[in-house]
Amino acid sequence: MISDNLPFTSPLVLAPIAGFTDYPFRLLCREQGVGMVYTELISAEALCRGNKKTFELMRLHANEFPAAVQLFGNSPERIARAAQIVCETENPPVLIDINSGCCARKVCSNRSGAALMKDPARFYDIIHQTTAAVKLPITVKIRLGFTQQTKNYMTIMERAVEAGAKAITVHGRTSDQQYSGEADWMTIEEIASNSPIPVIGNGNVTSYVQALDKLKNTSCSGIMIARGAIGNPWIFSGRTPTLIEVVATAKRHAEMMIAYYGEKGLILARKHLVKYFHHRVGSSQVRHSLVTAKTIEELFQVLNSIEQNA
Ligand SMILES: Cc1cc2nc3c(=O)[nH]c(=O)nc-3n(C[C@H](O)[C@H](O)[C@H](O)COP(=O)(O)O)c2cc1C
Repeated sequence: MISDNLPFTSPLVLAPIAGFTDYPFRLLCREQGVGMVYTELISAEALCRGNKKTFELMRLHANEFPAAVQLFGNSPERIARAAQIVCETENPPVLIDINSGCCARKVCSNRSGAALMKDPARFYDIIHQTTAAVKLPITVKIRLGFTQQTKNYMTIMERAVEAGAKAITVHGRTSDQQYSGEADWMTIEEIASNSPIPVIGNGNVTSYVQALDKLKNTSCSGIMIARGAIGNPWIFSGRTPTLIEVVATAKRHAEMMIAYYGEKGLILARKHLVKYFHHRVGSSQVRHSLVTAKTIEELFQVLNSIEQNA
């Protein structure tokens, strides 16, 4: 277990992934026993301004718990206020995570996301004020530093602890690396073995076996998985699904997307659906057929043919 004080139900958790970790995908991971799900990064500023779309992105449902909301922003006051707003919703999360790892230019240029690592005093204030504003545990997700020349993960870890964070997720890259190369698990281990609060390691975990191996061989209390879970929610249970199960899940995923988003759900489902089959022989043809299907019936025909041609 990650910590007695944190309500994770398993040490393997689904990362926040913008454009992916919506309610349908979170539910599919929940069915496989994921220990925590996170919303994608949610703008604290937009919540404070009452933006309807942002409220919808942040909304949690009773059957997906334990679940967390991730906030981003640059103002301690606005993030603290947004955290209070999150707590007032119908299904408040079990914890609020603060994004200090997003490398997207439009986020960092606004001094948010990973750019917070360049400003440890502001980083501290954000966690400190948010911790004081709500009763929920506050956690933080960081990288190793903003650039490879300015790796300040130890300072950032210490500031997070002093400010009252209850856990730290470490994505083992710097912001300027974006998602390239291998995540640096040696440094994740250095942080985890020195941190007085639980550390969740993140980066390049693509199988259940790898996740268990990282848990066993590092001081991490949990493992967070992002890209390795897309098209593979079974990564959280370690089950190897048959092709029949994969096709059935892909169909259900498409149906859930349409039920949740209406007609546009079919288009939004495409990026998930291609990932269910990307390792299979003839996958480029399959991918093409999946992304050009215009109706659910057409999509199901493509999925049926995958099963029949196996
Ligand atoms: C498309 C995409 C969107 C992401 N969105 C978020 C996000 O909203 N919040 C966040 O903290 N990290 C985000 N990340 C980073 C992931 O949570 C994770 O740290 C990173 O992908 C490394 O993990 P992985 O190797 O398991 O994919 C995103 C990553 C990708 C590829």
